[in-house]
Order: sequence, then structure tokens, then C-alpha cells
Amino acid sequence: MSGRVGGKAALITGAAGGLGQAMARMLAREGAKVTLTDVDLAGVRALARAINADHPGAAFAFSHDVTDEAEWVSVIDQAVDAMGGLSILINNAGIGGDLVWSEQDTLRNWRRVQAVNVESIMLGCKHAMPHLRTSGAGSIINISSVAGLAAAPGMGAYNATKAAVWMYTKTIALEAAKGGWNVRCNSIHPVFIKTPILDPFVALAGGDEKVAHEKLARGIPLKRIGEPDDVAYCVLYLASDESKFVTGAEFKIDGGMLAQ
Ligand SMILES: NC(=O)c1ccc[n+]([C@@H]2O[C@H](COP(=O)([O-])OP(=O)(O)OC[C@H]3O[C@@H](n4cnc5c(N)ncnc54)[C@H](O)[C@@H]3O)[C@@H](O)[C@H]2O)c1
Repeated sequence: MSGRVGGKAALITGAAGGLGQAMARMLAREGAKVTLTDVDLAGVRALARAINADHPGAAFAFSHDVTDEAEWVSVIDQAVDAMGGLSILINNAGIGGDLVWSEQDTLRNWRRVQAVNVESIMLGCKHAMPHLRTSGAGSIINISSVAGLAAAPGMGAYNATKAAVWMYTKTIALEAAKGGWNVRCNSIHPVFIKTPILDPFVALAGGDEKVAHEKLARGIPLKRIGEPDDVAYCVLYLASDESKFVTGAEFKIDGGMLAQ
């Protein structure tokens, strides 16, 4: 039970990827059990093995497409069985979609980004809530983006989804507060963080990662892009009881970008 989240049980979606991996490692290190889900089953299994090598019995892995309601129901059941309950839901899975101006956008791209980035969060909150409510102290952490608070040309679908996540988070927070359930819900808004989601920007820079990252860092007052742990530390705080009076809030992890 030791650690900042000792005794807690977390489900993290999109956990095979950059930010999800970092969150999973940090929460396990701080005493939580973690269920890792992703469409990339081999990826989450490998991560669970690595975590269990250091923290035996802490991690579980399941295949999960977050756009599929039946899979949500089944994955939550499996997570509750595996961990003995569920107290933290981290809606992290997300995609960037096509980097195109709105006239070139397609309904197919728009709907795909909505499904993965927003519909998933509605499904996750809906099906996890009964378990979070009975956990005694539940926390939902939705991964939005600075792109949910400020727009950029060529990112219409992504901007729209991340803004929806920001507002939906507040609805859930208020419902849970009004219900007296002791479940909190907050959103995190990272700027560019070094993960594979930045690959399209690297491609635009002719495949040169260093050049791409330097270009992305130009608009950031701290003059660098972020590391996955910069976000994971915020997740750790929101997952822990240290944030017990914090709900319906947004956390910018952006090197000062939106302070300008
Ligand atoms: N890295 C950044 O610069 C950045 C900035 C702001 C917000 N974010 C957000 O952070 C979250 C994590 O992104 P990341 O940077 O780790 O990206 P990533 O591409 O490294 O990881 C995303 C993970 O989501 C999984 N995934 C994709 N579609 C899925 C689906 N339908 N069902 C289940 N899993 C699915 C992928 O397999 C992958 O493992 C996303 O919501 C993203 O929008 C990232």
C-alpha cells in the first residue's frame, strides 16, 4: 500500500504508446495496480511483462479498441476482476488524424478522429463510473491537448475533438459532484511531447526528427518539446488523493505556450 497511489487500481487506454507507457510505469512505481489496454496487444503485453519484472503482479494487459462499446464493457469487467476493483480511469488513447486544411478534410478522417478521441471518452466514463463510484475515491483523467484550448491551421478535426474532451470532462466532474460519488474528473492538455504521434511532423521535416522537434519547440517559451514523464507526473498527482479537492479542472503541460 506504499507509494503515492498505493492501493489504487488504474485502467490506462492507449498504453502501448508514448504517454500511456510513461503513465503506467510511474503509477506502478508509486504502488498502483495498472491495467494496460490498446489495439496493440503485443505492445501492452510487453509493457506489462516489463512492469511485472520490477513490481510483481502489478500489471495486466488486454486488447481494446476504445471506439467499441462492447469491448469497453468487457475490458472493464476484466480489469475489475484482475485488479480487484477500479479507482482510476485514464482516457489516453488518441490519434492525430490527417494534417489537412478543412477544404481537403474528409468525413472519413473527421469521424475516425471523433470516434477515437471523443466517443471513446464518453464510453469509458459511462461504463467505468459504476465501479469508480464504489471504489471510495475515484479519479478520471482525460488526455486532451493544448489543441483543445487553442486552434492551429490543418488540425480542425483534432482541435474539435480535444475541445470536446475539455468540456465533457467538466460535465462528468459536475455530475459526479452533484451525485455525491467522490469521483473526480480532470483534463490534461499537453503541448508537443516526444512520442510517435509527432511522426507526421517529422515526415514534414523530411524525416529529420531533430529538425522537426526544434521547429515544434520554437513557439514554446521553455524552448523545448516535452518528455512523456512531464505528463505522467501530472497524471500521478491527479490519480492520487493529493488532488482530492481538484475536479473539473484543466492542466496545461505546455512549457508556457498558452501563457503568451
Ligand atoms: N505526444 C503529444 O505531443 C501529445 C500532445 C497533446 C496530446 N496528446 C494526446 O496524448 C494521448 C496519447 O498520445 P501519444 O502521444 O502517447 O501517442 P501515441 O501515438 O504514441 O500513442 C497512442 C496510443 O493509442 C493507441 N490507439 C490508437 N487508436 C486506438 C484505438 N482505437 N483503441 C485503443 N488504442 C488506440 C495506439 O496504438 C497507441 O499505442 C492522445 O490522446 C494524444 O492526443 C499527445
